[in-house]
Amino acid sequence: MILAGSIPQPHGGKLVNRFIVSDGKADGMLAIQVGGDLRNDIENIADGVFSPLEGFVGEQDFQSIVRTGRLESGLAWTVPIVLDVEDQTANEMKDAGQVALATGTDKFAILHVQEKYSFDKLACANAIYRTNDVKHPGVEKMVSMKNKLVGGRIDVLKRIEQSPLRKYRMTPAETRAEISRKGWKSVVGFQTRNVPHVAHEMLQKAALNLYDGLFINPLIGKKKQGDFKDELIIASYLALIDNYYPKDRAMFVTLHTEMRYAGPKEAIHHAIMRKNFGCSHFIVGRDHAGVGNYYHPFASHEIFKDYADLGIEPVFFPAFYYCKKCLSYANERNCPHGLEFREEMSGTKMRNMVSSGEFPAEHLMRPEVARIIVSFDEPFI
Ligand code: ADX
Repeated sequence: MILAGSIPQPHGGKLVNRFIVSDGKADGMLAIQVGGDLRNDIENIADGVFSPLEGFVGEQDFQSIVRTGRLESGLAWTVPIVLDVEDQTANEMKDAGQVALATGTDKFAILHVQEKYSFDKLACANAIYRTNDVKHPGVEKMVSMKNKLVGGRIDVLKRIEQSPLRKYRMTPAETRAEISRKGWKSVVGFQTRNVPHVAHEMLQKAALNLYDGLFINPLIGKKKQGDFKDELIIASYLALIDNYYPKDRAMFVTLHTEMRYAGPKEAIHHAIMRKNFGCSHFIVGRDHAGVGNYYHPFASHEIFKDYADLGIEPVFFPAFYYCKKCLSYANERNCPHGLEFREEMSGTKMRNMVSSGEFPAEHLMRPEVARIIVSFDEPFI
């Protein structure tokens, strides 16, 4: 049974495009240095991955996102995309009106400064991450941000240089064209920050029973210490897809942004980005975008009740485990057997196995994937 569906409009109705042809416009401008992660997000804004955002959010939208999980317009949005700077720099930027965003001497974008504002870091962290514990990687990052935020539209003049990590990066315009070329009427998106274990594969294949296409979309970018390296995530997925997926049913595209570990709020953010890429559905399993024990394993399912208007359908899965009685992957909805028959894989367990040099059993991790991981010199960040 394949469910009928349709590819959704971008979030907010229109795919943002903030690329302009460079004609030396930024040459004389005050330059603000931005690091690689922020540069990726600036390119995401320009490509429409964050549609309808056209730049860094201003104060009204920022407060609205923090308080309500929506933009001032009422449109769903849970993770503010911001530029933080020191007070003095914020004043200079405001006075200049237009500034160049640069890495080194490479002025790659223009920010049309609309406003500068202050924010209460701990209160914001609490609203987005549901904790103000500085041991949480997202909270830690937020409390160490600079004091002022600067909002305004951006125009990007130049893309980041090609690198092997960017080989599978596509813009939403490109993924939408590819989905249309394939004739898929329903596409289910899969977010991941891990190398694949068989439970991940089973979730994806359960969804493939119902929808035309699978959009495998690992997050490439800043992650916490102990997570797997981006190169390894890409290489292991390519091996999995090559050996275990039908060629015409899966698309592999990387998403270049940072992992925030915001659990439920990030699940909504993840879904919005995949809607912009053209997915009609989005997989949300156990402890989606979670870290440690900060979130209930199904908090990321619950939050979708507040977002009936999201425009992309969540596909919820319970925790998948291998059942030694069923001799297959199972979950509490379809398996009556006790805990003693369950074998579970998780990111943490994979990390422990790899660190101790243990080769995971074939029903937990595909050998083609395991071989790549164990042959990798430094698998972790
Ligand atoms: S995440 O931080 O990107 O969510 P991960 O890459 O491990 O972490 O998970 C990707 C997706 O698979 C998420 O939707 C997550 O909820 C789901 N998932 C991972 N492992 C399981 C499992 N054993 N059972 C059900 N869902 C899972």
